Amino acid sequence: MIQNNPDLIKAIRDQFAHVDNCPFQGDRIFFENAGGALTLKTAVGTSSKYAAIPDNQGRDNPAAHALVATIDKAKADMAVLMNAKSGQFFAGESGTELLFRLIRTACVNAPKGAKVIGSSIEHPASRSAARRWSDIAGLDYVNVPHDDATGLVTAAAYTALMTPDVAVATILHASPVTGMGMDVAAISKAIRAVSPDCIIIVDGIQHAAHGQMDLEAYNVDGYAISPYKMFSRHGYGIAWISDKLSALPHDMLIDAAPTGWEFGTRDTGAYATLSDVVSYFDWLGGEVSNEVEPRKRIEAAGRAIHAYETHLTNAMINGTGNLPGLRDMDHITILAGADNAAREGLVSIVVKGMASPDVVTILNNQGIRTHTRKADHYSGNVLDPLGLPDCIRISLCHYNTEAEIAQLLTVLKDLA
Ligand SMILES: Cc1ncc(COP(=O)(O)O)c(C=O)c1O
Repeated sequence: MIQNNPDLIKAIRDQFAHVDNCPFQGDRIFFENAGGALTLKTAVGTSSKYAAIPDNQGRDNPAAHALVATIDKAKADMAVLMNAKSGQFFAGESGTELLFRLIRTACVNAPKGAKVIGSSIEHPASRSAARRWSDIAGLDYVNVPHDDATGLVTAAAYTALMTPDVAVATILHASPVTGMGMDVAAISKAIRAVSPDCIIIVDGIQHAAHGQMDLEAYNVDGYAISPYKMFSRHGYGIAWISDKLSALPHDMLIDAAPTGWEFGTRDTGAYATLSDVVSYFDWLGGEVSNEVEPRKRIEAAGRAIHAYETHLTNAMINGTGNLPGLRDMDHITILAGADNAAREGLVSIVVKGMASPDVVTILNNQGIRTHTRKADHYSGNVLDPLGLPDCIRISLCHYNTEAEIAQLLTVLKDLA
């Protein structure tokens, strides 16, 4: 348990850069984790070390050998983190770019007259790719509506629209607007029950920081993440793809290895920071359990992260100490319900009579970083049906504290 262990919370916070201060603002509480999580200090050091190395991979010299070994190790570490027993990991420009590449490849290889299915809850990264490439490939796009009240899409909702001719499916793992996590394994099972060979691609970008990734359980073909949202840094995305998706005809250099998906020279330092991230999860797993086997330690870390983040969001919603929670503040509405078991460290709210950007500014002036989601091309899919022009997104990670929640509640209470 993290919540009853102040020494562990301190040890966790000590491992992250800028945990309580911003180099541009000074002291600040960071509740903008859905926009980009804090960076591990080890990842900062590793990035700087590799940035200074001039050598390229694939040469016969000691530096090149070391770079290739670093990349191989990072991929093996990622396989433990995400429980991948087959398939491959590769880097791209961003999570968005990788989702486009995976979805595009799946669509252009789908049989004529096939269908693509996805949900209105998805981030535009996967929705836009699926809409654009289904059009180009002459495939019908089927939209599975999400539930406005819970901010979720369910396996049953996919089942209702599934047909055997669906060849490509997209799933959002966690929503950056509602904060709710979808049951990816159940949705994938529902899709495969009707179309067993469907290529299923998951946007895991928002979920990754909250622990508990299990590709074996999901039975999907692609899973994309953005490492800056998982304690590494900006500048690249990572995808895992199944052996089946790996082997489909895809953009690549003529005569290159047919299952290679990397484009050009790789950033070894980016890969190396992933090993730092996995080491961090491994360390945390050792702190919260007696497990010795690496995957078991990762699983223990994931459970502890989820439990502590739920504790923190409950404190925000139900109150902490003498402070009332958001549910008790008449001027505040919580999106997707106060009691929602699918919540992953994120609470979106609106304040009666106030524009969300103004609330975000007031919070910023008090040293509390949150973010406005507007009903634009990023979040309109969730906010428009609720009749909301915007909302305030408060997004946590397991290095946040109950004391930080108390400071947030103090400011929000006074907005009445
Ligand atoms: C669920 C989800 N998908 C995709 C993206 C886009 O990620 P990136 O900008 O790292 O490509 C985001 C960013 O917030 C996201 O939350």
